[in-house]
Amino acid sequence: MSNYPFLSFGRPVSVRRGEGAYLVMDDGRRILDAAGGAIVTNIGHGRAEVAAAVAKATEEEGYVVPPWHTPSRVRLVERLVADWLPEHLTRIHLACGGSEGVESAMKIAIQHFAAVGRPEKCRIVGRSISYHGTTLATTAVGGHAARKKGLLQALQHYPSTPTPYPLRCPGNDPVGYYLEAFEDTIEAEGPDMIAAFVGEPIVGASGGALVPPDGYWEGIREICDRHEILLIADEVMTGFGRTGTTFGYQHWSFAPDLLVAGKGLAGGYAPLTGVFATDAIAAPIGETDFNVMFHTFAAHPAACAAADKVLEIMARERLIERAAATGERLMTALRDALGEHPNVAEVRGRGLLQGVEIVADRETLERFPVEANVTSRLVMECLERGVFLYGGGTGEVRDIMVIGPPFTIDDDDIDRIVSALSGALDAVL
Ligand SMILES: Cc1ncc(COP(=O)(O)O)c(C=O)c1O
Repeated sequence: MSNYPFLSFGRPVSVRRGEGAYLVMDDGRRILDAAGGAIVTNIGHGRAEVAAAVAKATEEEGYVVPPWHTPSRVRLVERLVADWLPEHLTRIHLACGGSEGVESAMKIAIQHFAAVGRPEKCRIVGRSISYHGTTLATTAVGGHAARKKGLLQALQHYPSTPTPYPLRCPGNDPVGYYLEAFEDTIEAEGPDMIAAFVGEPIVGASGGALVPPDGYWEGIREICDRHEILLIADEVMTGFGRTGTTFGYQHWSFAPDLLVAGKGLAGGYAPLTGVFATDAIAAPIGETDFNVMFHTFAAHPAACAAADKVLEIMARERLIERAAATGERLMTALRDALGEHPNVAEVRGRGLLQGVEIVADRETLERFPVEANVTSRLVMECLERGVFLYGGGTGEVRDIMVIGPPFTIDDDDIDRIVSALSGALDAVL
């Protein structure tokens, strides 16, 4: 079939079905889905009770415009408020994908300042290594060189500040370095022009599970407060348990003003992303005639029913605690097997979002040339060995194998991941 995907990338990979943490391929081979698709499937594939909930919502609720209440929507919102959201994030806007969610959060921040009579505060600061989505605005605010190719001439200017990358940070005061850089970015742009700052608490695939140094986020919060800049946490990948806490920001002592979480919310069973905000942000917008416009298919009843059931299963099976514990065992196993490998610069991450950075020289941290195509060769080699890992990086930042399996994997699965990656490294390098 040459019509799909839009651009062909070689031999198509054909999947017949998903079962737990595994994909069953067209030829009957079973592949461990150690990337959870695109770091999405947290409760595993093929859960009959999610399918039943979706079927019921489809039959009984079909399609209803997003702002209206339906039983599935109400159930999901009530569950989110009761069990999942931090107390200060009281307002809920639902979108389909993560790009829509992040762009909605950016728009809400801009509308907020317009509503309080400060329309000049309309710029959003992003970071040098990041991915926030595929729309023109989220592409522009993000720091992903490879995904900007062919678009640069159409992208608007968004100020950018360096993403913490402890492995490659110049000097020996990483927190000071990155916070000073943020202050400089704000100064150059003018604090009165900036509505919000957007960052992933732990960077997803673009940086390969980059964990900032302790103190960074508290410092960012203080600087944002001082300049009346709203803090948007993009937790499209890290939200709903992926890093071993409900939300990634909870590894530190700060709170965002807006939080966007997608992927794991409905566990891959349906497209759904939540944009969560404080009353203080939403109330002034409510006093204007501005619209926080919905996407036609946002909060689709079937997607809400899927998410409601996924969250119920996550709580019932204590899957976040399991992600934290399994994540520690996975990291220990990866470090034991690869920690001294001459081409492994670092094994990093939190919970079940981990990255293994591959370099040509472990001492100098020099990367392999782009033309060596190390990432895609490793992904293909791991697939041959029965494990799907996600290729991370931005083009400039590259050769990071990202691991983000369902939270249900067991110790045999951990062994499979480690041995596939070790074998692939030896075969490819
Ligand atoms: C942190 C982050 N933000 C936003 C997005 C965009 O989400 P989507 O692809 O659902 O539009 C992604 C997708 O990978 C992501 O990881």
